[in-house]
Amino acid sequence: MPRNKNFISPAEALIPPRPSLSSLKNAAADCQACDLWKTGTQTVFGEGAKRVKVMFVGEQPGNEEDLTGRPFVGPAGRLFDDALEAAGIERKQTYVTNVVKHFKWEPRGKRRIHKKPNSLEIASCRPWLEAEIAVIKPDVIVALGATAAQALLGPQFRVTKQRGEFIQSTLAPYVMATVHPSSILRAPDDETRHLELRSFIDDLKKLAKAIK
Ligand code: URA
Repeated sequence: MPRNKNFISPAEALIPPRPSLSSLKNAAADCQACDLWKTGTQTVFGEGAKRVKVMFVGEQPGNEEDLTGRPFVGPAGRLFDDALEAAGIERKQTYVTNVVKHFKWEPRGKRRIHKKPNSLEIASCRPWLEAEIAVIKPDVIVALGATAAQALLGPQFRVTKQRGEFIQSTLAPYVMATVHPSSILRAPDDETRHLELRSFIDDLKKLAKAIK
């Protein structure tokens, strides 16, 4: 995972010795490594069993995730669940997490609108993601969307060009990036949404085949 060698995240100091998923989750609950803890309701840590082959990495929790404390449970999560099912993958056989573990938002009227995390917030949160990968040691890591893909594979990575391809990486035997489910929800019309959903399911089917 590319990292800035001149920056040591304060989160490094919070990683417990010989971490487990539950000790990591407990420690991350108190993380103040960047300022997002001030506006997020809670840390939304990754979720899933330890012995899974596939790890999905999204960008950051959204509104519903922030309120419930669980990743991918809002509208994008529901689309993700349907796509997983269509590809023959059970969500409970995967681990789902995010690059940034607090919801970044700005007010618009009464709503809280998602705001993209910046490079400092991503770098501050990186120790948690690295620790999750080290504990789970997944066979496949799938980045959902450009923020996750670039955090995992470098800023030159282009989801538009390389989606659905297995990428050579030291992170896991198989690493792939595809679109973020919320980009499918934002499609301008039903036909485009349907086509984009099909391509997303096709990408997931490739990884289902890889782990068989
Ligand atoms: N989008 C993400 O990237 N992650 C979530 O957990 C929810 C929405």
